[in-house]
Amino acid sequence: MATYNVYVLFFLLVFVCIQLITPSTCDGALTSGCIPAERRALLEFKRGLKDPTNRLSSWVGEDCCQWEGVTCSNHTGHVVKLDLQNPHPFSDFGDDPYNNWTLGGELRPSLLGLKHLKYLDLSMNNFGGINIPEFMGSFHQLQYLNLSSAGLGGVLPHQLANLSNLQYLDLSNDVSDILVHVNEFSIGDALWISHLSSLKHLILGNVNFQNGAHWLEALNMLPSIVEIYLSSCEIGSVPFSLPHVNFTSLSVLDLSYNSINSTIPSWLFNISSLEHLDLSENFFQGNIPPAFGNLTSLKGLTLANNPLQGGIPTSFRNLCKLQNLISSSINISKDLLEFDEIFSGCIKMSLESLNLSGTNISGQLPEWLFQLRKLKSLQLKGI
Ligand SMILES: *[C@@H]1O[C@H](CO)[C@@H](O)[C@H](O)[C@H]1NC(C)=O
Ligand SMILES: *[C@@H]1O[C@H](CO)[C@@H](O)[C@H](O)[C@H]1NC(C)=O
Ligand SMILES: *[C@@H]1O[C@H](CO)[C@@H](O)[C@H](O)[C@H]1NC(C)=O
Ligand SMILES: *[C@@H]1O[C@H](CO)[C@@H](O)[C@H](O)[C@H]1NC(C)=O
Ligand SMILES: *[C@@H]1O[C@H](CO)[C@@H](O)[C@H](O)[C@H]1NC(C)=O
Ligand SMILES: *[C@@H]1O[C@H](CO)[C@@H](O)[C@H](O)[C@H]1NC(C)=O
Ligand SMILES: *[C@@H]1O[C@H](CO)[C@@H](O)[C@H](O)[C@H]1NC(C)=O
Ligand SMILES: *[C@@H]1O[C@H](CO)[C@@H](O)[C@H](O)[C@H]1NC(C)=O
Ligand SMILES: *[C@@H]1O[C@H](CO)[C@@H](O)[C@H](O)[C@H]1NC(C)=O
Ligand SMILES: *[C@@H]1O[C@H](CO)[C@@H](O)[C@H](O)[C@H]1NC(C)=O
Ligand SMILES: *[C@@H]1O[C@H](CO)[C@@H](O)[C@H](O)[C@H]1NC(C)=O
Repeated sequence: MATYNVYVLFFLLVFVCIQLITPSTCDGALTSGCIPAERRALLEFKRGLKDPTNRLSSWVGEDCCQWEGVTCSNHTGHVVKLDLQNPHPFSDFGDDPYNNWTLGGELRPSLLGLKHLKYLDLSMNNFGGINIPEFMGSFHQLQYLNLSSAGLGGVLPHQLANLSNLQYLDLSNDVSDILVHVNEFSIGDALWISHLSSLKHLILGNVNFQNGAHWLEALNMLPSIVEIYLSSCEIGSVPFSLPHVNFTSLSVLDLSYNSINSTIPSWLFNISSLEHLDLSENFFQGNIPPAFGNLTSLKGLTLANNPLQGGIPTSFRNLCKLQNLISSSINISKDLLEFDEIFSGCIKMSLESLNLSGTNISGQLPEWLFQLRKLKSLQLKGI
């Protein structure tokens, strides 16, 4: 037995030594310097770009792994990351709307020469409204794709369905500041999204859903999805029910600013993993459903600016993790005392901010308010 173990140890040592002496020689890669074919692919891609401030001036010489925005694997030498995000997306020159740090021009298919690409960020540039090239669907290793505010447009290409390793997809517009160039995408028939079986984070804010189809079915088929941001997508309506609610890992759902004119859909209440839900700035009608009390993982809930009426259901007392409740500008007519039953529940241990401004609540400051141990921010009617 002992001899046998010594042999095993010997072979293990030999194996480790071989690994140490010949780092990744099997695919001809070196740990310094880049792979010539990938260097050529990058140079050809650069030729298609417009680069007014010469951001890519470092793209000369042999070692493409040292070029601005390019990262190679230490292990294989392959280019694994290309980050060409505009570092100065907002004009440095006052209100100058023609920010010249943006890259533009064409997106040449030579990029496909980077067969091991895992991360691609072209955000905050301006490609003049061209479509996402279909070849983008052929980066089989891609895990991260960020085309937010890149001045792209058109219907999203279904070829992206082949990105089976994709975990992050961001096609949104950053509307947090005055932005120079934005995407103008429409979703089209979204069934292809259901093939993105590794997708965890989907950010489609400002993508137009008006003539979209199958998007909710498609999202409901993503087994790993954790975050869905669909703010300002002109969604208009959502089905009240679904045949089966598949979202088992969904933590964040943002449906704000969509002019959704319907009652709050029932399928939401089957997503027990939900931590942050934003339904604000829509036309959700009717009463606030008591079923919210079933979403016991909720940490943040925003219902602001909807023509909802009635009151806050008593079941909210069960939301033991809720930190932020924004129920402003909804049609509540109540005496503050009437909320006693809610805010004496376990919600009182977690609530950090409460916004009921713009509602029709009345009465004196009630006792329960002083029991909200973690409260940091409070906004009541007219205050
Ligand atoms: C970038 O734009 C600013 C303001 O419009 C201008 O002063 C500057 O010369 C431009 N730089 C280049 C390299 O074009
Ligand atoms: C490669 O090695 C460098 C320096 O040794 C290190 O800073 C970098 O994080 C490594 N990159 C990757 C992708 O592991
Ligand atoms: C995409 O890039 C923008 C800025 O260019 C950034 O704000 C955003 O967080 C990125 N998206 C993801 C999913 O990392
Ligand atoms: C997508 O995958 C299918 C099947 O694997 C293949 O036939 C097709 O060419 C791929 N499309 C792209 C854009 O890579
Ligand atoms: C639920 O998800 C599974 C696995 O992704 C899928 O096969 C099934 O069709 C989905 N069901 C519905 C109703 O979308
Ligand atoms: C929602 O959950 C309830 C209770 O667990 C279950 O009976 C019902 O079938 C679910 N509905 C959907 C649409 O998944
Ligand atoms: C919502 O839909 C109803 C019924 O279809 C309609 O009467 C109402 O005008 C719509 N409201 C808005 C704000 O679109
Ligand atoms: C909410 O939970 C209750 C009790 O667990 C259950 O009977 C009810 O079906 C749930 N409602 C929804 C909409 O899931
Ligand atoms: C409370 O809600 C109102 C109206 O929706 C909003 O204007 C205000 O900024 C909110 N207050 C806080 C502290 O978030
Ligand atoms: C507010 O709700 C009451 C009933 O609770 C209803 O009579 C009234 O019309 C609503 N007001 C608005 C502006 O929706
Ligand atoms: C506000 O509530 C009071 C009584 O609670 C009611 O008389 C009044 O009509 C309500 N105002 C609005 C705008 O709903």
